[in-house]
Amino acid sequence: MDWGMKNRLSQLMPGGRCFFMPIDHGYFQGPTRCLEKPGETVEPLLPYADAIFCTRGVLRAAIDPLSSKPIVLRVSGCSSVVGKDLANEELTTSITEIIRLNASAAGLSVFIGTDYEKESLKNLSTLVNECEDYGIPVMAVTAVGRELEKREARYLALACRIAAELGARVVKTYWCEDFEKVACGCPVPVIMAGGPRCETELEVLEFVHDGLQKGAVGINLGRNVWQSPHPVAIAKALRAIVHDNASVKQAHEIFKATKKTKSTAKA
Ligand code: 5RP
Repeated sequence: MDWGMKNRLSQLMPGGRCFFMPIDHGYFQGPTRCLEKPGETVEPLLPYADAIFCTRGVLRAAIDPLSSKPIVLRVSGCSSVVGKDLANEELTTSITEIIRLNASAAGLSVFIGTDYEKESLKNLSTLVNECEDYGIPVMAVTAVGRELEKREARYLALACRIAAELGARVVKTYWCEDFEKVACGCPVPVIMAGGPRCETELEVLEFVHDGLQKGAVGINLGRNVWQSPHPVAIAKALRAIVHDNASVKQAHEIFKATKKTKSTAKA
């Protein structure tokens, strides 16, 4: 692996583990709850995250360019929750812009099993071809939108493997039962998104811990962090699982202790 690629991946995944903070949801669903002002939402969470996942629009509008936090740039879009088909995406951002914005990685969605499977996989191949020239890793995002109905190991393993075969350096997917089948069939690091908010923070800690035990290298968790009434407390607890190998019990203790402190109360 070339120096630049290796260096970017090591910044994104210190010690081989990662906690990305996604705030890209607006690109297809508008001002998502608690993400109306993404800069304000993400600011107190940044000490716990290894990177921010966002579009160029939010990056320019809401993230301080003096920040040293690595950026994973969301570079697919052009469909919305009120449109005909969420899977009908295009590449939105040129390689020049990815470089200009000093992104550490570029991320796009693939929609395997949909009417737009081929187009989204072509987007992935094109992006990989462009990014590899500059040592920029591509993160493929599997199973979003309606694809969430297929949140089971057989489908997610298939989607992750295909994304890796086409050149993704990292694959983002969802936790599911038998997660080891997803991770072990994928030759590149797999990270987990959170999906819609769980009923309790304990549930979040449990699935994250389970996925990491079964081969995931990290998380890209948005709504289960910033839609929580205690976003800093859950972020701190998740970081302990990801980077310090905390047990669910230890992480839950961190969550409970942190949420009591005044500084973490949500505005
Ligand atoms: C949306 C995304 C998000 O980054 C991803 O779904 C993670 O966020 P959440 O934990 O809220 O699901 O790719 O398109």
